[in-house]
Amino acid sequence: MLSLDLLGGLSAQTFLRDYWQKKPLLIRQAIPGFTGLLTPDELLVLAGQNDCTARLVRQQGDGWQLRHGPFRRSAFPALKSRQPWTVLVQELNHHLRSAEDLLQRFSFIPHARLDDLMVSLATAGGGVGPHFDSYDVFLLQGMGERHWQISTQTDLTLIDELPLKILRHFTPEQEWVLSPGDMLYLPPHCAHNGVAVGLCMTYSIGFRAPSAQEIATQFLIYLQDRLQLNGVYADPDLNLQEHPAQIGKPMLEKVAGMINQIHWDKHDIAEFTGCYLTEPKAHVFFSPPETMPSHARFCRQVRKAGVRLAPQSLMLCYDKRFFLNGEPVDLTGEYESLIQLADTRQLAGAGLSPACLDWLYTCHEAGFVLIVEALRKSG
Ligand code: SIN
Ligand code: CO
Repeated sequence: MLSLDLLGGLSAQTFLRDYWQKKPLLIRQAIPGFTGLLTPDELLVLAGQNDCTARLVRQQGDGWQLRHGPFRRSAFPALKSRQPWTVLVQELNHHLRSAEDLLQRFSFIPHARLDDLMVSLATAGGGVGPHFDSYDVFLLQGMGERHWQISTQTDLTLIDELPLKILRHFTPEQEWVLSPGDMLYLPPHCAHNGVAVGLCMTYSIGFRAPSAQEIATQFLIYLQDRLQLNGVYADPDLNLQEHPAQIGKPMLEKVAGMINQIHWDKHDIAEFTGCYLTEPKAHVFFSPPETMPSHARFCRQVRKAGVRLAPQSLMLCYDKRFFLNGEPVDLTGEYESLIQLADTRQLAGAGLSPACLDWLYTCHEAGFVLIVEALRKSG
């Protein structure tokens, strides 16, 4: 199993039992020979793209400056500048196939928990300061070396009025220098500080952990869109009130009766969860094909080369019900094909049913599914 390599010989089961959400783990040479997925130059180009979420953090003494991208090339100080700086690019997996493949190696954690792959480039002495994150993270060292300090401290007070979340007090308990291929797992709220030894790049595999407030709010929105209640307010039994401004008890009872018509069951929870967890983030856009192939040509190409999910697509299932990009999948009897696509993000084309091909065609039109590129030209 792939995760045996990635976890330095630990089985995924042992990792989940002993470390996941519990305690930090340093894995030397988690990916031997790993030096990164892109060069500093390629990262700076990416940070200039409109469809890219990038931040630039500059340190000036005790001061911190934060700017949001996209950035012109001239926004970046020299790589050898005496003032340390770092640029962070979110969702690298939307931009690089190799980043998507790297995330797939973390499939020992359910896809529903995975957020994105972030990459940072820091000059000597650069970093984002001592802080904590509310979610789990694997910090995989790419190019260069980074000095990490971590602490299980419970004092998580932040310094006021800074553009970044920086801990007021940071008391490191353990520290290491990570070299290319080394990886550090941190559970939520574990304080950490990573400082670049020289020019370095770090890949963060981040997980999502929605708050109860967020889930409940979104569930109420979901419910509201599907609500169909009967009746209108009626009071043929109305009695004369002493104060016309008074909301009478009978009125409250009628309102309560109306609200009590709102019900949900396990099915609604599952439908909501599937839609909610596959809903693309607000800034994410899909690129439908510039020229859509005819249905027949599409089927020929797919049968030959297969399809893969677009990098931005999110696909999950509950039992035999599938969800893609915020919507339930309206295709039944195709479990084997759909689970392959959802699990591995790709699907071999041979033997696909006409119904499955029809569905894939509409997904392709929306930009949710791509024909496998390497073989497409020969199709
Ligand atoms: C970084 O790569 O600079 C930030 C990673 C983190 O501390 O979460
Ligand atoms: Co962090």
